[in-house]
Amino acid sequence: MSAPGPSTVCVLGAGGFIGSHLVEGLLREGRRVVGVDQESPKVEHLLGKPGFDFRLFDLRDEARLRRAVEDADAVVNLASLCNPALYSPRGLEVVESNFLRALPVVRACRERGRHLVQFSTCEVYGRTLASYAPEGSAFRADPANWVLSEERTPLVLGPVERTRWSYAAAKQLLERVLVAEGREHGLRWTVVRPFNFLGTRMDYLPGIEGEGTPRVLACFLAALLRGAPLTLVDGGRARRCFTAVEDAVDATIRILDRPEAAGGRVFNVGNPGNEVTIAGLADRMIRAWEAATGERWAHGTRSVPAEEFYGEGYEDSDRRVPDVERARTLLGWEPRRPLDEVLRFVVGETVRVHGARLPG
Ligand code: UGA
Repeated sequence: MSAPGPSTVCVLGAGGFIGSHLVEGLLREGRRVVGVDQESPKVEHLLGKPGFDFRLFDLRDEARLRRAVEDADAVVNLASLCNPALYSPRGLEVVESNFLRALPVVRACRERGRHLVQFSTCEVYGRTLASYAPEGSAFRADPANWVLSEERTPLVLGPVERTRWSYAAAKQLLERVLVAEGREHGLRWTVVRPFNFLGTRMDYLPGIEGEGTPRVLACFLAALLRGAPLTLVDGGRARRCFTAVEDAVDATIRILDRPEAAGGRVFNVGNPGNEVTIAGLADRMIRAWEAATGERWAHGTRSVPAEEFYGEGYEDSDRRVPDVERARTLLGWEPRRPLDEVLRFVVGETVRVHGARLPG
């Protein structure tokens, strides 16, 4: 039997991709949600639902922030700028949004005695130790050097000139602040490290819903809709473990319901069974598009050097396989949705909403 969970949850960043799914999950369970964001399009369908108190404001408004925290039993902080295309050109904003703006949230939770569930990132692991060893070496093959464990794995970020790591460094420092706040002031905290969550409403479709370069799912979806080759950065050799956002919502609610077990801990939330190279992801998305449209994909993929795609300062995480033993043991959580099922659903929904083909 799980402990009774908080009846009212404050979700900061409720209007984002993960936030909008978390709010749905909490409302479905009959919880009340105080949702905060600067924009509402992703939660438009939830506005006015019983139990959803949506407050449109900027987190820099500390008086309103404190009130939102006070009005809930627990707080989930999802507010973040988390798109690698921004980490180098907008490094200051990235550090500000992911570190400085989180500090008043930490303070408010400490003062009001609220459990803070802070979303961090799998990117704090940086690059695997294995990636520094020669191809074919025993060191490189040893899972101890590439499976990422909350307890054992060192956090290996690249040089400061490699400005891609601005985000991971900001999140890592925030995690360290939480640990110290817990030790020195008794803050109740839990850190979630998400591993590439996927689902509907992720980012925006470039050229259709906004401009710029979002994360890989939205880049590939937009290319599919336009009939343009999918762009593989450096040939798409990086690997990721993509995780269904529904599995992620399940993990988050389990954390909220088990403050004793989850308090003072970091959790990897990811699906090790869904590992794929980015080139492999492109193939699977093309197959999902073919299934949704009944057409054959004739546009292929194209490889672009990372510096050309992201500009100066980019360096990639080579591989991110989570060890999820801690979440299994302490939360009874298991990631369930296989990658192809998620992709079929997301690609199918996108084609249904936008049509099979947009002008190129
Ligand atoms: C980003 C964030 O930095 C992480 O903190 C966050 O946890 C993660 O997304 C996430 O979604 O959970 P990353 O996986 O590097 O990390 O983000 P993407 O932009 O989705 O890139 C994934 C891979 O696809 C990278 O190797 C990138 O170079 C590649 N990519 C991206 C392409 O090959 N083509 C594209 O059009 C876009």
